[in-house]
Amino acid sequence: MTNLTAKAHEMSEADKPDGPDLTQGVAPSDLVEGRLAGHVGDDAVLLVRIGDELFAIGAHCTHYHGPLADGIVAGKTVRCPWHHACFDLRSGEALRAPALSPVDCWKVEQRDGRIFVREKLPQPKPRRAGPASAPGRIVIIGGGAAGFAAAEMARRRDYDDSIVMLSADSAPPADRPNLSKDYLAGSAPEEWVPLRPDDFYAENNIELHLNSEVSAITPKEREVATSDGRTFAYDKLLLATGAEPVRLPIPGADQPRVHVLRSLADSRAIIELAKSARRAVVIGASFIGLEAAAALRTRGIEVHVAAPEARPMERVLGPQMGDFVRALHEEHGVVFHLQNTVTAIDGKRATLKSGGTLEADLIVVGVGVRPRLALADKTGLATDRGVTVNAFLETSAPGIYAAGDIARWPDPHSGQNIRVEHWVVAERQGQTAALNMLGLNERFDAVPFFWSQHYDVPINYVGHAEQWDEIAIEGDIKSKDCLLRYRKAGRTLAVASIYRDVESLKAELAMERDIAA
Ligand SMILES: Cc1cc2nc3c(=O)[nH]c(=O)nc-3n(C[C@H](O)[C@H](O)[C@H](O)COP(=O)(O)OP(=O)(O)OC[C@H]3O[C@@H](n4cnc5c(N)ncnc54)[C@H](O)[C@@H]3O)c2cc1C
Ligand code: FES
Repeated sequence: MTNLTAKAHEMSEADKPDGPDLTQGVAPSDLVEGRLAGHVGDDAVLLVRIGDELFAIGAHCTHYHGPLADGIVAGKTVRCPWHHACFDLRSGEALRAPALSPVDCWKVEQRDGRIFVREKLPQPKPRRAGPASAPGRIVIIGGGAAGFAAAEMARRRDYDDSIVMLSADSAPPADRPNLSKDYLAGSAPEEWVPLRPDDFYAENNIELHLNSEVSAITPKEREVATSDGRTFAYDKLLLATGAEPVRLPIPGADQPRVHVLRSLADSRAIIELAKSARRAVVIGASFIGLEAAAALRTRGIEVHVAAPEARPMERVLGPQMGDFVRALHEEHGVVFHLQNTVTAIDGKRATLKSGGTLEADLIVVGVGVRPRLALADKTGLATDRGVTVNAFLETSAPGIYAAGDIARWPDPHSGQNIRVEHWVVAERQGQTAALNMLGLNERFDAVPFFWSQHYDVPINYVGHAEQWDEIAIEGDIKSKDCLLRYRKAGRTLAVASIYRDVESLKAELAMERDIAA
């Protein structure tokens, strides 16, 4: 089975892996800090020692091929340095998203004071779901990060009854973060975008209905209805309808050269215009807006960014990182119009509030998203700027769960009820919701994580800080080698970093242990 990450894997595997041939045996002293990257035939393999135990697993993460040797070992797991996926060293299972597929495992032997990696071990069988209270019918509303991860996890746990996934999208679940990055920049082909190939759904008996907008939920009858009149009965229901881009209430915002960026269809439409565009205007200096700006610059298009704030991303990352992000984009030729907005669009002309106009063949609007709450409100679910869920991600209606961009959950780390718009959080919540629909009673207590990519600069962020007293900076932001700690009352609430992956992982571990009182 292939997917984006597997394809990245196959491509990189075309090069012979580095390091020693582990079948020939290595000395225990060859392992540095308990690990050694080598190979078995054409497979890159990571050898790990924890106390007296030895493990050999695939050396590359199944998400985007991150080098696991550069991550950290925590308990009997290894965490990927790039986006914090976590793999079980004993079974290879991807315990935490964003990786969903396992890595391979090999048998290891110690003989005559040397360590030998032997044959590949068979993939472990799916684990039984657990309690016999597993429902007969699971319905998932939404075919995005949370919805897909939930369906995949239910099947991984050997749940073999019905899963119906109803998605308003026209495309199967897609790697949404890629839509503003490599795919938009033209450096990743479209076949990399689906999370799984089309036949995955039939093979795994997941009934995927595309173009299927759910218009009503009737908890009493345990039934959902689509806007075209079909009904589906459920025993457990997951609401994972995500968020929708805010549309600008300005004249001309509905013209064909103006696009928001949420779905594969949006990204395709922008790419189509970008093929002949010379100049683009991006409205909004948010993550999506600036990732789109970077992708369009990569295509050689002149890019102007207009946004009301004084510094990009200051609200989330603070002034220092905001200044860095601005300078980074300016180095790549982006022209900012900050403390400004576009007040009207007329054909190729965008009028600025400050006066003057910008010419544009293409306009991307990235001014934020709002959670899709209409269905929850109509059903009478408790909401508070998101669907209110408990620690088990169950809504105010028993048997109905919510996950992803729409869910506001009690975060044990910040001690607040929070709602975020992060890919990894949505996937992990989908996974936890699936386990709870199967009757496993798991709390959602993952530390929030997101990443953003601008040109060759990845920014990783763990934790959640809406306010802080100070930002402690280690390293140097301008040199793209830094870690920023956002502190309140002496406690680190969040950490942002550039190329300090191990420290970022260690900060995540520390936050896992530091549950708010
Ligand atoms: C272009 C882009 C780039 C991003 N990059 C990053 C990144 O780099 N890092 C990061 O952490 N986050 C990133 N994000 C955010 C991340 O993608 C979201 O947080 C994540 O997708 C949320 O998952 P979700 O399942 O809640 O919602 P979604 O993935 O949006 O899925 C919602 C699904 O619900 C469906 N739906 C909605 N209403 C209905 C209905 N009534 N009936 C049926 N189906 C319905 C939609 O069609 C869709 O399939 C990015 C987002 C975008 C748009
Ligand atoms: S490459 Fe490993 S988590 Fe993304």
